[in-house]
Amino acid sequence: MELPNIKILDEKNKILHKISSDVTFPVNEEDRKLAYDTIKYLEMSQDEKIAEKYNLRAGMGMAFVQLGKLKRIFVIANELEEKNTFEEYIIINPRIISCSEELIYVGEGEGCLSVNREVEGIVPRHARITVEYYDFEGNKKTIRVREDLAIAFQHEIDHLNGILFVDKIDPKNPYKNKDKMREI
Ligand code: NI
Repeated sequence: MELPNIKILDEKNKILHKISSDVTFPVNEEDRKLAYDTIKYLEMSQDEKIAEKYNLRAGMGMAFVQLGKLKRIFVIANELEEKNTFEEYIIINPRIISCSEELIYVGEGEGCLSVNREVEGIVPRHARITVEYYDFEGNKKTIRVREDLAIAFQHEIDHLNGILFVDKIDPKNPYKNKDKMREI
C-alpha cells in the first residue's frame, strides 16, 4: 500500500491559528479525495511496521487546516479492538449540540500531528458530546461520541477554530483541576 502524499503543517505555521470556514455542498472532488487520502494516511500511521518504514507518528485525527485548507472538515480513523480495523469518520461543519458535565483527560497527554515536541500537561474535555454535522452530499447527521473518541472530536473541532491543544495548557500550571476530572 502506498502512503498518500499529504503535507502536514507544523504549529509554527500561523494558518493553524486561523478560523476555518463552513464548507458548501456538494463537496468537490479534490476535498473528497483529500479526506479519503488523509484517513488512509492515519490508518497507515497506526500500523507499527508501516509507521517505522515511513517514519510516521501515529495519529487518529486530522483537520483540513492542518493540511493548509481553511475548511471545516476533519477526519478520524479510530482503531478498534481488532487490529487494523477502523471506524472512519468524515465530519463536515460540525457543531456540538450537547455535552456531558463530566470532564475527562488523557493521562499521558494529548498529541497532535502538527505539534512535534513533548508537551507537559492535560486538557479538560467533555466525557460525552453530541455533534451535528454534514456528510459530503450535505445531509445533516447527528452523532453521540464518548471517551477517547469524544476527546478526538473536541480536539479536531478546536482545530477548526484555530485552537491547538497546547493553547489550552497553562505552562505554569499544566495539571490544573486534575482532581476534578477523570483520567482515561
Ligand atoms: Ni491535532
